[in-house]
Amino acid sequence: MEKVEIEILKNGPVIVTGEVCLKDHAGAEYTLEKKTIALCRCGQSANKPFCDGAHVSAGFKAEETAK
Ligand code: FES
Repeated sequence: MEKVEIEILKNGPVIVTGEVCLKDHAGAEYTLEKKTIALCRCGQSANKPFCDGAHVSAGFKAEETAK
């Protein structure tokens, strides 16, 4: 089984790389055309759950680090 990598970007989205199944609240599966996706965590994307770059103009700040 391929390892899935999840990376939290500073002031940006969550990057998911690998084979994943992404479902909405009703259980419907998104069609993913790439093995790497960016998930919005700022709440400003017009294409949720995906990041559309709106975090930049929104001035989203988040710098969590692994402890
Ligand atoms: S994190 Fe990029 S639009 Fe929200």
